[in-house]
Amino acid sequence: MMDEAFTLAQMDRIAQVVRDRTSLSPRIGIILGSGLGTLAESVLQSTIIPYQEIPSWPVSTVIGHQGRLVVGKLEGQNVLVMQGRAHYYEGYSMAQVGLPVRIMQRLGIELLIVTNAAGAVNPDFSPGELMLITDHLNLIGMAGLTPLRGPNIDEIGLRFPDMSQAYDRELGEISRQVAVENSLKLYQGVYVCLAGPSFETPADLRFLRAIGADAVGMSTVPEVIVARHGGQRVLGISGISNKANLDGNTITSHLEVLEAGKSLVPKLETLIRGVLRRL
Ligand code: HPA
Repeated sequence: MMDEAFTLAQMDRIAQVVRDRTSLSPRIGIILGSGLGTLAESVLQSTIIPYQEIPSWPVSTVIGHQGRLVVGKLEGQNVLVMQGRAHYYEGYSMAQVGLPVRIMQRLGIELLIVTNAAGAVNPDFSPGELMLITDHLNLIGMAGLTPLRGPNIDEIGLRFPDMSQAYDRELGEISRQVAVENSLKLYQGVYVCLAGPSFETPADLRFLRAIGADAVGMSTVPEVIVARHGGQRVLGISGISNKANLDGNTITSHLEVLEAGKSLVPKLETLIRGVLRRL
């Protein structure tokens, strides 16, 4: 697998393909994870661009990821919604996994709302509830897999970007307020990103719990690294889709993740709409 970074000129050519399809200038990017894509159907005055029609855009191969960009209005805000994403385990390079966020940056998007389906690591978390991501553990990055590998593009960001506040505190506070006002349960915690696609063993989960994780998934962190490198503010929300299997007595399946998505979507929609109204 080639791990070649994209040049600024390549990114700008790809961004132009998106710009040519819509007169709207999106301000906010939203990435919808596994089973959460139906939220994109609420976007008004939408222009829909299948990922296949955007050069180099990584196409999702996973069930539950529709694979299209929806540009339009949600709660009066101009948004660009990714209905599905690509993951490292699908065979894409980290540069490709990070490309959509780069394109958002070239389109002028300054704020990213990133969502995912995640397994509970915290035994107090119940499936079907949302978690505000307050921080992450970049295990995949510690193992050497980062979208920032390659020449740094100084026009976009620093070679060594700070990650002390990867998840924007003000956006987190707004989310907590929206949750209270709508009687939504909103856990808070640390998301850990693994490469997948196999789910964790009970020993993996006990290890992840010991190092401070509350939820585990196979996405998001590479996108957040790219977003912060490019100076975007980030709000991260996990939909807890399955329970912490610390004792090995529960089987985890992708079907279960997609089923949980159905009950998570209305909650996620309430939360995201409430946040958008306050921006
Ligand atoms: N583990 C990893 N990724 C996931 C899980 C899980 O249990 N659930 C949804 N995505």
